Amino acid sequence: MEDAIRLVLNGTPVRIADAPPTLTLLEWLRGKGLTGTKEGCAEGDCGACTVAVQRAGAGGLETRALNACIMPLAMAHGASIVTVEGIASAEGNGDPHPIQREMAARHASQCGFCTPGFVMSLWARPEDAATDRQALEDRLAGNLCRCTGYGPILDAAAVSAPETDAARDREAEAALAASLGAIGPLDMRVDGRRIIVPHDEASFADAVAEHPDARIIAGATDVGLWITKRLYDPATVIFAGEVGELKTIAVEGDALMVGAAVTHAQFARTVEEMAPPLGEMMRRFGGLQVRSAGTVGGNIANGSPIGDLPPAMIAAGATLSIGKAGSCRSMALEDYFIDYGKQARDPGEYVRSLCVPLDGLSRLTCHKVSKRFDSDISAVLAAFALWVEDGVVQKARIAFGGMAATPRRAPRAEAALIGHRYDETAVRNAQAALAEDFTPISDMRASATYRMRVAQNLLMRDFLERTEPETRTRLAGGAVARLAGRAA
Ligand code: FAD
Ligand code: FES
Ligand code: FES
Repeated sequence: MEDAIRLVLNGTPVRIADAPPTLTLLEWLRGKGLTGTKEGCAEGDCGACTVAVQRAGAGGLETRALNACIMPLAMAHGASIVTVEGIASAEGNGDPHPIQREMAARHASQCGFCTPGFVMSLWARPEDAATDRQALEDRLAGNLCRCTGYGPILDAAAVSAPETDAARDREAEAALAASLGAIGPLDMRVDGRRIIVPHDEASFADAVAEHPDARIIAGATDVGLWITKRLYDPATVIFAGEVGELKTIAVEGDALMVGAAVTHAQFARTVEEMAPPLGEMMRRFGGLQVRSAGTVGGNIANGSPIGDLPPAMIAAGATLSIGKAGSCRSMALEDYFIDYGKQARDPGEYVRSLCVPLDGLSRLTCHKVSKRFDSDISAVLAAFALWVEDGVVQKARIAFGGMAATPRRAPRAEAALIGHRYDETAVRNAQAALAEDFTPISDMRASATYRMRVAQNLLMRDFLERTEPETRTRLAGGAVARLAGRAA
């Protein structure tokens, strides 16, 4: 057990014994004079603070681009942090890295405030990452530039990729992975506060039971904002992100088992083939940095009415497993969300895993409506799983986010479809029934009237996409083509 945070910063091992739980990685880096990493928004939206975070994984060194502004420093325990200052030529002659060189040569930087973030998002690319335009746009959707325009940035990204891969020193990476893997779990006390980073579920469960008032933090893509924007200051924090058992995702029998600490990026990679519409939704979940940190369990545990995964997983028929030291219980996911800010989880318990039936996943369609296509929170999220035989709806699971105080099913709309021919009349009846299922509210994302109208229209869009795949129903997004032929 370690009693101080241990990490590697740009190749140098560092030990930190005096960091409070709320000190962010960005504050710490800039305090050390590494001011290449910028603070733009301090809420995970702009990517100016992007750094590469490397950990020992099953396949050696695993590298992620993360937003340092919302990442508590303690989350870097056991990791190697690479900042824009740390990537210059491996020969140590001060020459810029190929990505930096191409960004300059192609005039991909004007004021330069966003540039280190773009550079680090590209530097953190896995070697086998696609380099076509769409893949690069997806990779950089969490990095905002206000002055240059994205064309030259994308050009620099494409050109520098092969050279970057060629420069990788595999022996050094293996040695780094081995040294990081040897760093143990953390239990650190600072000025009456406590930071616990367990590595196994039994220790995690014990810590949560022992400190029922502690704040569990997984990816910190919600909690990080409470810290930077609301000055939230918990006395004890327990990190879930390094608990091995909670990080696994695998098909077991006829279900996909998803550990609570599985990141959205991991989840997206797994489901993109088995459930393309869900994969498409995940592509639009935050930007890459948010998907690489945020977890499936965090998206459920926070109980947000506008979280994207809960309605999708409710429609797919998921079961939630809640853990407690020495025991475990499960419930239908929809039963977890009791009311706004109220979930079926007692102090000392934690979100453990999701069990998602493959049958539900294979029938699932998702429709995300947000003001911006990429990296935005939904105004309305609709998810549908339909079982249609001989043209008649046998079973329907319809769930919405953004329409009520919790993510919820639409029982009257489901009833309007079940037992009826799946045709326009049934869908119009379901649209009418939806007005009895929900009384949405108005907020800065959408008015109540808009929410209801768009939710009703999504029932019709889903019908058209299932029955007339050739009809163009979306201005952007690639799911429609892949939906062709998936009637129900
Ligand atoms: P954390 O911030 O670590 O925790 C969130 C809550 O869950 C806390 O209350 C914490 O105590 C609790 N918690 C975490 N893990 C557990 C556990 N295992 N057991 C019990 N409690 C636990 N969300 C969307 O749905 N769609 C989006 O498109 C989207 N875009 C975003 C874009 C940006 C820029 C940002 C900053 C956030 C966005 N989010 C979005 C919100 C956020 O990323 C998600 O809610 C994410 O899934 C939270 O997971 P986390 O691991 O980061 O949670
Ligand atoms: Fe904007 Fe971190 S400063 S994402
Ligand atoms: Fe100014 Fe991108 S170069 S914000």
